[in-house]
Amino acid sequence: MKIFSGISNKPLAEKVAKKLGTDLSPLEIHIFPDGEKRVRVLGKVVGEECVVVQPTSPDPDVNYMELFFIVDALRRSGAKSVTAVVPYLGYQRQDHIFRIGEAVSLEVVATLLKWGGVDEIIAFDLHSIKIPEIFKIKLTHLSALPIFAKEIRRMGNDTVLVSPDAGGIRRIKLLSQMLNNMPYAVIKKDRDLVTGKVTVNGINGNVKENAIIVDDMISTGSTIVTAANLLRSKGVKNVYVFATHAVFSQDSPKILGNSLLQKVFVTNTINIPKEKQFPKLKILSVSEMIADNLKA
Ligand code: R5P
Repeated sequence: MKIFSGISNKPLAEKVAKKLGTDLSPLEIHIFPDGEKRVRVLGKVVGEECVVVQPTSPDPDVNYMELFFIVDALRRSGAKSVTAVVPYLGYQRQDHIFRIGEAVSLEVVATLLKWGGVDEIIAFDLHSIKIPEIFKIKLTHLSALPIFAKEIRRMGNDTVLVSPDAGGIRRIKLLSQMLNNMPYAVIKKDRDLVTGKVTVNGINGNVKENAIIVDDMISTGSTIVTAANLLRSKGVKNVYVFATHAVFSQDSPKILGNSLLQKVFVTNTINIPKEKQFPKLKILSVSEMIADNLKA
């Protein structure tokens, strides 16, 4: 098996390769002055099972294009199969039409990945469990929840799990089961699709001294911070966050760092450069899970 990395998360690709007892296989990626890329596979891949690690944030368009080119180069060079490890699968938030006239971005991506020659995709904590149905190739849906559960078990009692919106109910129920039915609550959240503004209208379930908000991704941080403020107003003392994908757009690292949150746990599905890290942040690794899946 040969492991290749695009530009978006080389540290993760290196960790996966190491866990598989190998090094990354070489690629040449030339960037033209206008930003276009020329990708070339160095070395032989004829008859080889090839894996490309490339989460798509940030920038989704740049990273998707690069992934398509790497896959194409591998196919043309005779690879037996290509597995795309896209731990954070971009455009999944637009997996259906919310308002008349919209594109279904994820369906476009799914079509391009299949046509480009990808045999299998491995992704983490998809926004909706229906997403694999959109793909006409195998999509292995992994989850960071077992990694979160291990960490949460070390934390104190008198704790409630919290989903910051109704969309996360399935996730929070699964995590609760992994933690001997730890109690959970669900916040009633609304987001204005035009302005992106998040508002909360109460919570279903009882709060406790400690609350753990669990989400699939943190982008602007509005969902988490609004949820944390609500929990504090209900008497919660300590608020922790577990989110798989650290999309961390705009000023979110600063907002989270200055918030009342005790700690923010995320994974390395997306590379987090030093300038986006803050003291309350703890990064958990999904590399072992990916390597185990590739070995199986
Ligand atoms: C929404 O349904 C998602 O699960 C996340 O809660 C959301 O995408 C987070 O975005 P932001 O950090 O911008 O509020």
